[in-house]
Amino acid sequence: MNDKKTKICIPIVETTIETARKAMKIASEKADLIEWRVDFLDTIDLMAFETLITEVNFPLIITCRLKSQGGTDNLTEKSREKLLEIALKNEVAFIDLEHQSETTLPLSVNTTIIRSHHDFEQTPSLREMEKIISTFDSTAWIKYIPTAKSSNDNFKVFELLKNRPQMISFCMGIKGQISRILAGKYGSAITFAALSDIQQSANGQISIDEMLQLYRADKINSATQVYGIIGQHAENSKSKYMHNPAFQAAKLNAVFVPFKIDPEDELKDFMANFRTYKLSGAAVTIPHKETVMQYLDDVDETAKTIGAVNTIRNDHGKLIGYNTDCLGAIAALKKKTDVKDKRVLLLGAGGAARAIVYALKREKARVTIANRTAEKAKNLAQEFDAVTIPMSDIEQSAENYDIFINTTSVGMTPHSSQSVMQRIPTGKVVMDIVYNPLKTKLLTLAEEKHCTIITGEHMLIHQAIAQQEIWTGQSPDFDAMRQWFFEIPELNNS
Ligand code: ATR
Repeated sequence: MNDKKTKICIPIVETTIETARKAMKIASEKADLIEWRVDFLDTIDLMAFETLITEVNFPLIITCRLKSQGGTDNLTEKSREKLLEIALKNEVAFIDLEHQSETTLPLSVNTTIIRSHHDFEQTPSLREMEKIISTFDSTAWIKYIPTAKSSNDNFKVFELLKNRPQMISFCMGIKGQISRILAGKYGSAITFAALSDIQQSANGQISIDEMLQLYRADKINSATQVYGIIGQHAENSKSKYMHNPAFQAAKLNAVFVPFKIDPEDELKDFMANFRTYKLSGAAVTIPHKETVMQYLDDVDETAKTIGAVNTIRNDHGKLIGYNTDCLGAIAALKKKTDVKDKRVLLLGAGGAARAIVYALKREKARVTIANRTAEKAKNLAQEFDAVTIPMSDIEQSAENYDIFINTTSVGMTPHSSQSVMQRIPTGKVVMDIVYNPLKTKLLTLAEEKHCTIITGEHMLIHQAIAQQEIWTGQSPDFDAMRQWFFEIPELNNS
């Protein structure tokens, strides 16, 4: 564990001195450090280089990587040596050298040398990484940057960082993002963030705005509680946009990150790491909601009956599973309608439908299920004492229902012109769990018929509120959660 402050560094990857100057000005307002990747410059002008580094009144890392070292081919060996000499003469804070590169640079008390090694293929075993860094110049700081092929690789890096205060280490790649975000907890001396989404210098780099505003990476320390979402496509989940602000509003030292876990093998080791590293909790999504149950110590009755866990809480080393999807659906419905004795037509018979049927039956609603694959509807109906109708009959029998709920993915971007029903009777309640777009075609049609509509974010937000209650004992305000939801960049750009 570590309590020294991790520095957040923005790499500058501009191709001209002028644009580098502008980028550095912006970067200096957001970061603790700037790394100038001088090898990105189109042409090397030694005088202009010296002018800019003397002008920048901010701690700099100067990096001049040859093509053979993962850099660009703009540099020659000779120009590289010259640039480094100038950097040293001007006492920049750090010079980054590939660990195998020869140099005749003299030692300086004011400039720290970082010896770096990048592995663009993999994360070797801890022993192997330790062996590699034992060959590094012992007077320098060490930067060891492997690539995460599995989310579990991040934990190897956390081990490597133990008791090595002058070490920079995290994983490249999408699966490595957690080690970039959690650098302050596990002790990397520096972590890197891109000036913007299009100015990344390495695979998996997160923008500085996301690092600071969403993850509050500058506030993360050894006491920070780690939560996240376990899913195959966790990086696309919107839950981080609700849970991180919720932790912040509750003044909790906690962060919510994406745990991108593939179905094969990765989950078992991840759950072992979850225990070892005492992670505090997780949301669980496709395709792990069922398989994760075998790695838990206990599963509450609701999740057991539904057969799926979407929430895990670490209760002093005991991992407990819950399902908040059902709570979310009922809370969303109850804001607009009573549920008891209502006739509900549920469209779809997948995982989300399962949680909703369970919740509806618990509330004593009368449930009919229609699904493209009739067999799945039948099985679900049998299990929860509901009935089914063929998908082809839904429109002709629509008058018989009070509430319609779409749990299929029909209507989701990019197929937003589609609707699972074309004709909806007047004055009913219609809920869609699709939230991208918010006003689906189904809900537009329903509104034309003066129906009460419930947009998809309601269930999502209510289930997230229930997750916060399980994790923290506190209940975030619905309107605040909804406001954070509406700030989600992807939804605003679509
Ligand atoms: P989730 O966990 O989000 O519910 P799921 O378990 O994959 O996801 O379920 C998706 C649901 O959407 C299923 O009911 C599926 O119907 P099938 O059981 O026939 O696959 C339904 N669905 C997906 N695409 C559909 C489409 N184009 N038309 C009708 N139903 C569709």
